[in-house]
Amino acid sequence: MPPAAKDDGTDPEHHIWRLGRRDLLGVLGWGGVFTGLGIGNAALVRMLYPRVLFEPPTAYKIGRPNEYAPASVSSKWIKDYRFWLVRFADRFVAVSAICTHLGCTPRYLGTEDKFKCPCHGSGFRGLNAGWEHIAQNFEGPAPRPLERYHLSLADDGQILVDKGQVFRTDKGQNEEPGAFLPYS
Ligand code: FES
Repeated sequence: MPPAAKDDGTDPEHHIWRLGRRDLLGVLGWGGVFTGLGIGNAALVRMLYPRVLFEPPTAYKIGRPNEYAPASVSSKWIKDYRFWLVRFADRFVAVSAICTHLGCTPRYLGTEDKFKCPCHGSGFRGLNAGWEHIAQNFEGPAPRPLERYHLSLADDGQILVDKGQVFRTDKGQNEEPGAFLPYS
């Protein structure tokens, strides 16, 4: 049996393999460096530009209380903000115009004093139901009353409505702070 060839770099076959292995390690090495740099850069970019969700504002100033007639349902903000501002003898209530059935926009029918949804016919009680029961569902498929939005008075005396805070009649939240704005 011939003695095993000594790997001294002079055997062309071994030499080629050794170079190939070296090259491979070199490629892997640089690949690793670049991959590492790539991850580092991505982390750096994320640190410099953190992911921030820019959500639209939920609070709006809607004028002074005396701009709204006593005992009235104002549809002034339906188009822009989708709620009615209702003025009772001693308070304001902001009623959501999102039907609790499937989310259509009801209309306030003054002659019938009710909020009526055009999609599947749900009806909700109007001004004469009083602040406790306004927006109560009474006909059609809507499963619960329309919601109410948070009201407060801003520093400049304007009414501030915040649609980010919701109150539900069916959960007994009508008298919680912010569920109405006292005014007389
Ligand atoms: Fe209003 Fe169906 S969405 S009744």
